[in-house]
Amino acid sequence: MRTENLEYTSTRKKGERIPLLIDCDPGIDDAMALMVARASEGFELKGITSVSGNLDIETTTKNIELFAKVLKLNAVLASGASEPLVKGKFSAEEVHGSDGLGGASSLFGVSLSGDRVQQNAVDTMRKLLLEEERKTAIVAIGPLTNIALLLKIYPEVKEKIRVISIMGGSLEGGNVTPLSEFNFYVDPEAASIVFQSGVPLILSGLHMTVDATITEENLEEIRNHSGVLGVPAAEMLKTYPGTAHPLHDPCAVLALSHPEIFTYEDLTVHIDTREGDSQGMSYKDERPWVKKETNCRVLLKIHQEKFRRLLVDTLAF
Ligand code: RIB
Ligand code: CA
Repeated sequence: MRTENLEYTSTRKKGERIPLLIDCDPGIDDAMALMVARASEGFELKGITSVSGNLDIETTTKNIELFAKVLKLNAVLASGASEPLVKGKFSAEEVHGSDGLGGASSLFGVSLSGDRVQQNAVDTMRKLLLEEERKTAIVAIGPLTNIALLLKIYPEVKEKIRVISIMGGSLEGGNVTPLSEFNFYVDPEAASIVFQSGVPLILSGLHMTVDATITEENLEEIRNHSGVLGVPAAEMLKTYPGTAHPLHDPCAVLALSHPEIFTYEDLTVHIDTREGDSQGMSYKDERPWVKKETNCRVLLKIHQEKFRRLLVDTLAF
């Protein structure tokens, strides 16, 4: 079913602030996703958890603490899985730099003590989900290792999850191989567990995020922002103008805060867990004679100009 505008998987009343957890591997675009979430009135950000992916768990954990301080977030912080469930570790340091933030970490002007971060992201997510009366949305923008462990170890949390908005996979093309996108390539078994879990999913895949780009003019606007983030964020984003580096992860947040900028289709999506070029490939099953429930709301297109405006305006605080 191809629909022009995305509705929430469960509708959000006007002015309602929905409880939110973000599981991430910052990572430059993860950092932008945290900023977009912070700027949105639509969320109560209850927890931020780190997973190894773009960089090792030590670096991604440092970066969730850094942005919790920079953005003055009082979310609970916890570090998660240091490697994928089955496959070997695989990083994207060449894209995000050794500090995970394009070399700009020192410009954000915060010192890190590490004392705010709890161990064991899975237990922390379980606690936050069960103690919250309402259903909680999860934004998952790194390899899905923590999320898969959560759903397997504590299946009772499924009924407390409103939706999992995922950045990963692709209906066409890949970035690690011609067929496979980074988050699902790193931990295909975790992605397969999540897509078979029965939990409502929204997917921001490469086929759509490829258009989530910024221009040099956008970068200049960000740099000239009056807020404290302008200069450091612009330094972090210095390689992003153009088409080589889309800002993938903010799409998974905007899917919840600004669904009107996307189109979508409800599909049945499977994950290939075999090693090699197809490792982590996400593919749809549209065979009409195979009776099956769809398992995912796949975002098809993003309104590029609205995305750019939202991103630039996000940093004006
Ligand atoms: O393929 C893009 C995804 O991989 C993004 O989440 C980026 O941060 C990296 O983790
Ligand atoms: Ca990421």
